[in-house]
This record gives sequence, structure tokens and C-alpha cells, in this order.
Amino acid sequence: MKKVYIKSYGCQMNVYDSGRMIDLLKPLGYEPQANYPGADIVILNTCHIREKADEKLFSDLGRIRPYQEEKSDSGRRMLVIVAGCVGQAQGGEIIKRTPYVDIVLGPQTYHRLPEMIARALRTVDGKGIVDTEFPLETKFDSLPEMSEGVGPSAFLSIQEGCDKFCTFCVVPYTRGAEFSRPVQDVLREAQSLADKGVKEITLLGQNVNAYHGIDPQGGKEWGLGRLLEKLSDIKGVERLRYMTSHPRDMDEDLILAHRDLPKVMPFLHLPVQSGSDRILEAMNRKHKAALYFEIIQKLREVRPDIALSSDFIVGFPGETEADFEATLNLVRDVKFHMAYSFKYSPRPGTPGSAMESQVPEEVKSERLSCLQDLLISHQIEVNQKMIGQRTSVLLDRQGKREGQYLGRNPYMQSVYVEANPRLWGQIVEVDITDAFQNSLTGKIVVEERVIEAA
Ligand code: SAH
Ligand code: SF4
Ligand code: F3S
Repeated sequence: MKKVYIKSYGCQMNVYDSGRMIDLLKPLGYEPQANYPGADIVILNTCHIREKADEKLFSDLGRIRPYQEEKSDSGRRMLVIVAGCVGQAQGGEIIKRTPYVDIVLGPQTYHRLPEMIARALRTVDGKGIVDTEFPLETKFDSLPEMSEGVGPSAFLSIQEGCDKFCTFCVVPYTRGAEFSRPVQDVLREAQSLADKGVKEITLLGQNVNAYHGIDPQGGKEWGLGRLLEKLSDIKGVERLRYMTSHPRDMDEDLILAHRDLPKVMPFLHLPVQSGSDRILEAMNRKHKAALYFEIIQKLREVRPDIALSSDFIVGFPGETEADFEATLNLVRDVKFHMAYSFKYSPRPGTPGSAMESQVPEEVKSERLSCLQDLLISHQIEVNQKMIGQRTSVLLDRQGKREGQYLGRNPYMQSVYVEANPRLWGQIVEVDITDAFQNSLTGKIVVEERVIEAA
């Protein structure tokens, strides 16, 4: 059996893509393995979003190289493949810098991986293959049925690419133009996941709520609200989530889905980036902070317990103390369940990187830690409030200790419990007994009844 090692560096879509690449290689006789030494194929599925993510690729390549040489000394080959968003952005440059890389491809061409591998294995002169096209055919039409990475909770990619061109972001360049998969394709894939025992589906897209897939009759376009309604009919799927959303695409249908569809979980990741209108404009987010507050208010009206999460960038060019204060105020007003925050990282080719008045690194660091302190204090407070409450948890991961399992409740909080292994993959009721910064612990209720039913 031949072995493939794959590493994901990026977002959930990047993780999803890694699973699909394994699905493509399995019929060719490749089995996944957990590390790169000895592998016949090493795939680095890269991320270009911030400088740090980018740099990891080259340090990893340096570490892998001796193993590739060792393999070639014994007359065999280790193909080294760079996939993902750095592959798309840098293409042939990667092979110039690290000539031992055999293949470079982007997120839109990985369905061609089998033929690229066949070509690479035929070449002896070590000349690298680069395929970073945005092909007319979509990869979704030629990917095999999903199997890799399918547990009780699975990702399903429904939308890709981005036309919004925020001035800090590389995604429109690395993933290409916005594209929504047809409703029929999404329903088919969701049903096949349900048939495999999947209980929770997270719909993925860079702008998932900009979804506008062609309907089953091939006439009209459906938005995400309508799609969620249809997905709610699938038996066995108990929970639906979606990410990542943009405030401008949070339409009425989608907000009402949180009221009308019990399977749609009361959680929303809605990045705002900044609380300052001036900075939002410079970022080309095309909305004001007021719109964000309006959406949150509407959501809380229809679903008062909804948990909110967001992304923030501090130190965008031109950000003043007053702008940063506006971000802190937004955070104080909304009180997020969780959030991701980053120092602005100038990305090659984006308008932001050419802007004057770049913010000094020390200021960025100061602001980041100030913002994170505030976010963490809210997160702890929200978690503490769960103590004594009953919540449902989908047990889909093993804890560190024997007999310990981990899962998410509807609000995306991580909950640790002691459980009988037979409960793995089930949704159980848990009484929360303790709370920490990033997780909760609790005790399973009515365990006997669930076991009897199982
Ligand atoms: N499509 C999503 C975000 C995708 S990128 C949206 O529109 O919100 C994920 C997150 O990375 C962003 O929300 C942003 O907070 C962060 N990010 C993107 N580019 C960045 C950059 N150049 N520097 C720092 N953070 C960045
Ligand atoms: Fe990037 Fe903006 Fe598109 Fe999100 S909406 S992927 S931040 S350009
Ligand atoms: Fe990174 Fe590409 Fe995702 S840049 S965040 S892997 S879309």
C-alpha cells in the first residue's frame, strides 16, 4: 500500500479540500498516514492569508527535504506537492526557490491531481509541474464521493471564491470569483453524508451566505435560507451550521431560518473586522458599524439565545486610537461568545499593502493584546453562565484521558464529559458543572436511556 501525508494550514475550506484530495488518491492505492517520513506523496495544503501562515510552508519544505533524499537514495520517490492558496499565489516561484517540489497547484485544480501525479512519476528530469489555472470546468463535477474525514460532524463546501475584494485580503486572488454549487448537488452530497451517519453538517464558503445556487428545476436561484430549509428535511441530520458569513449578505430569509428551523444551530460567525466606519470604508467592507448592530438586534429578536462570534483585524493602515476604541466599544456592546483577532498583515498584491500610514508593529501588538483581553473576559463570562445549565452535545472527539469525550453544544462551546465509548457519535444531554476559558465540563444525563435506545 502506498502512503500519502497531507497537512492543512488554512481555513475550514482548506481542511475540506485536503479530505477531497485524499478521496481522489484512495482509488489510486494511496492510504493516508499521520506524518511525512516514509510517505510516497507529501501534500502541503497551504494558506496565504497572513504572512505567518505563508512562512510555514518553506520551513516545512526544508524539514521534509532530507526524507525525500533518503527515499531517493534507496531508489524510490517521495513526491512533494504544494497545494492551496500559496500554491495559487506563487505558482512557479515555489519551484524556483525549492526545485525539489514536484507539483504546485491551486485550490481550483486539485481534481486534476491524479493526472499530475502520473505525469510527475513519469518525469525523471525533476522538472516541476505547475497548474494554477482557474478552469472553466468546476472541480466539484469530477470529485469522487466524499469519504475522508467524514465523522459524526462533517463539512460540505457549497460556495467558493469571493468578489468582494476587501483591501486586506488575498482570497479573491487565490480562490477566484464567487461560485455557488447547484442546489441539487448540495442536496445529493448532504444525503450521502446522512447515509454515512453524519449528524451535523457545516456548510462552507468564503462567503457562504452569498450562496445563490440554481434550483433543482434549473430556473431560479436559491439563497442560503431556502437551502437550509430544504436541508432540514434530511432525516438523520440533526444540526446545520454555516460559515463564513459577510454582514452584507445577511438577508431576511437567513435571519428567519434561525427562528423557524430548529436544526439550524443558534450560532453565527459573522466577521466585522473593525468597529470604526472610517476603517470599514478603507477596508472596502461596504457597510457601516450600524448595519452590524442592526443584524445582531434582528437575530436576537428571533433567537434570543444566539451565540455570536467574529473576526477582527487590528492595525489596519491609518487606524488611530479612536478607531481602535470604536472596535473595543463594538465588542463591549455585542459581547461575543468567541472571536478571532489578528494583527494586520500586509499581503503582496492587495491594495492595503500599498496604503500609506502603516501602523507600527508595537502598536499592533499592544492593540491586539488589549482587544484579546477584552474578548477573553467576555468568553469566560459567557462560559461561566453555562454552569448549572443543561445543554446537548454531539460527542465527536476523544478527550485526552481515557473515557473522556469532547463535543460541541449548539452554541459551539466545547464540552468535555466522561462517557461510555458507545455514546461516541451521539447527541447527549449534559449538565454543565464547570467552565474555563475555552471549554466546559459536565455530566451526561439520562445515559441509561440513551444506551438502551442505542
Ligand atoms: N470571508 C471571510 C473571511 C475570510 S479570511 C469574511 O469576509 O469575513 C479570515 C479572516 O482572516 C478574516 O475575517 C480576517 O479577520 C483575517 N484576515 C484576512 N486577511 C488578513 C490580513 N491581511 N491580515 C490580518 N488578518 C487577515
Ligand atoms: Fe476576503 Fe473580504 Fe472576500 Fe472575506 S469578503 S474573503 S475578507 S475579500
Ligand atoms: Fe487561507 Fe486560502 Fe483559506 S488563504 S484562509 S486557505 S481560502
